[in-house]
Amino acid sequence: MSEQSSAWSSIDQIASEVLACTRCVLADTRINAVPGDGSTNAAVMFIGEGPGKNEDEQGLPFVGRAGKLLDTLLDEVPLRRDDVFITNVVKCRPPSNRDPEPDEVAACLPYLEAQIELIDPRVIVTLGRHSMLRFYPQGKISNDHGRIINIGKRVLLPVYHPAAALRNPRLNETLRADMRRIPEAVRESLLLRTASRADVKSTVGEVRTREYAQGAAISARETETDSAPAPEMEEAGDDQDQMTLF
Ligand code: URA
Ligand code: SF4
Repeated sequence: MSEQSSAWSSIDQIASEVLACTRCVLADTRINAVPGDGSTNAAVMFIGEGPGKNEDEQGLPFVGRAGKLLDTLLDEVPLRRDDVFITNVVKCRPPSNRDPEPDEVAACLPYLEAQIELIDPRVIVTLGRHSMLRFYPQGKISNDHGRIINIGKRVLLPVYHPAAALRNPRLNETLRADMRRIPEAVRESLLLRTASRADVKSTVGEVRTREYAQGAAISARETETDSAPAPEMEEAGDDQDQMTLF
């Protein structure tokens, strides 16, 4: 997926436009568009396929049964909903929960691309096969779920959709195990961004060991105030702010 600079300068601005959007036919049948929800400074971004019935009614992502399972799994990482950003490939509910059509995905994609660009997450967790394919077209969910995949300046962690896990208890365990890899994915992404600087890498290793030893949640907001950057990390330029998060 390309990440070009976009017409929007804030997550709120994107949301306002999504709420009024009529770029595709899904606008005709929706109750509410669902732009996404969570921290605009999130290190981890979750991307589902599209809103379902409950989401359409409430205007919020993952608030139905699949959402409740997602909450439980986030708890186990541990992460809070406020720590992460949750959105979907298409922002309006496809009627009867059908798959979104290619032209609908194409019409909606600029919003997702702009959200990714502005939030700049380290890790994208795709929920389900369709979302994975936007970022990793050669992927197969049965092979690639739970893999930490380098997609440039961030990493992708494809996982099964929580709705699939609700239908199949075996997938439930797999999804649970894959979600537990999120901290490792965050660490991988950190090394990716500093790969050219071995000295920075070792400093980051120490810092993150300390943070995890303290049981710190993967929360940009929680950690940005209480962990001062080591001098070496300040030399890392525009990654500096994110270096201090872990
Ligand atoms: N399924 C999705 O893919 N997204 C939601 O927001 C809810 C259910
Ligand atoms: Fe607009 Fe996306 Fe909703 Fe289509 S799905 S109307 S492109 S916000």
